[in-house]
Amino acid sequence: MSDFQSWASAHQLRFEDVLKNLLPQPELAPRRLHSAMRYSVLEGGKRVRPLLSFAAGELAGADLQRVDLVAAAVEMIHAYSLVHDDMPCMDDDVLRRGKPTCHVEYDEATALLVGDSLQSLAFQLLSEHTLSDDPLIQLQMVKLLAVASGSRGMAGGQAFDLDSVGKQLSVPELEFMHIHKTGALIRAAILLGVHCGNRLDTAQIAKLDHFGKCVGLAFQVVDDVLDAEADTATLGKTAGKDADNDKPTYVTLLGVTQAKKMSADLHAEAMDSLSTFGAGALRLRELADFIIIRKY
Ligand code: IPE
Ligand code: IPE
Ligand code: MG
Ligand code: MG
Ligand code: MG
Repeated sequence: MSDFQSWASAHQLRFEDVLKNLLPQPELAPRRLHSAMRYSVLEGGKRVRPLLSFAAGELAGADLQRVDLVAAAVEMIHAYSLVHDDMPCMDDDVLRRGKPTCHVEYDEATALLVGDSLQSLAFQLLSEHTLSDDPLIQLQMVKLLAVASGSRGMAGGQAFDLDSVGKQLSVPELEFMHIHKTGALIRAAILLGVHCGNRLDTAQIAKLDHFGKCVGLAFQVVDDVLDAEADTATLGKTAGKDADNDKPTYVTLLGVTQAKKMSADLHAEAMDSLSTFGAGALRLRELADFIIIRKY
C-alpha cells in the first residue's frame, strides 16, 4: 500500500465512525427514515470530498475534530444529492455504491425525506459546533455550503442537467453544468477544510479555491468517461446510464480521447495552482492524481 493509500484508508476508516455517531441512531423514531439515512450515507462511497477537506485542513493547520464536522456536512449533502439523483424523476437508477438505490430499498417518499433530512442535518452540524475561533468566519462557512448546495450550486446544476436531456450543448454550457452539479460541492469541501484552520492568507486561499474549481470539473469529466467505459461491477452503479438517458456529456460532445485530454489539462492547471505550497500540499496533489486516474 502506498503512503497515500494508507493515509486515505486511515481517514476513511476513522471517518466512518464519525458519520455513524453523527447520524441519528436507527432505533430512534422515525426508525424507517433514520435507517434509510444511515443506509444512504454509511458503508460506501470513495469519500473524495471528505478526503479533500482533510488534506486542505492539514495545510491550513486545522483541528481534525473541526474538519470531521465540515467533512460530514459535505458528505451528507453529497449523499442526499445521490439519493435524489437516482430517483425515477431524475436519472432513474437502481444501483448505487454497489447496493440497491435508496428508493428501491425503501420507497420514493422515504428517499425524498432522506434527502431533506440529510440536508438539514448538514446545516445543523455547521451551526451547533464551534468550527472557527472567529464566529464571522463560521457564519461564512454556513453560507458557503448553502450556496454550493442550492440553485446557484449543486441543485442548479442538476436542474440544468435535467433540462439538457436530448439536447446538444456547447462546451461552455456543459462546463457550466458540471461546475455546478459536481464542482461546487468539491470546491466547498476544500474551502470548508481551509476555514477550520487559520494558517493561510487570502491569496493562498484563492489558489486553493482555483485548485478546487479545476479538480471539481475534472471529477465530473472523469465520471462521464467512466460511465461510458467502465463496467457496472467496478463502478457500483449502472454503467452506460448517460447514453441510455440521452444526456449530453464530455464524451458525447468531445469523444473519449478529447475528454481524457481535458481531464489531464485540468489536472495540470490544478497542480499549477499548488506550486507555491511545497510539501504541505502533498495530499492535495495525490488526491488530484486519484481523481484523474481512478477506475470507479
Ligand atoms: C458521484 O460522486 C456523483 C458525482 C457527483 C459525479 P462520487 O463518484 O464521489 O460517488 P461516491 O461518493 O464515491 O459514491
Ligand atoms: C450527479 O451526476 C451529480 C450529482 C449532483 C449527484 P451523475 O448523474 O452523472 O452522477 P452518477 O453518475 O449518477 O453518480
Ligand atoms: Mg444525474
Ligand atoms: Mg446519475
Ligand atoms: Mg455520472
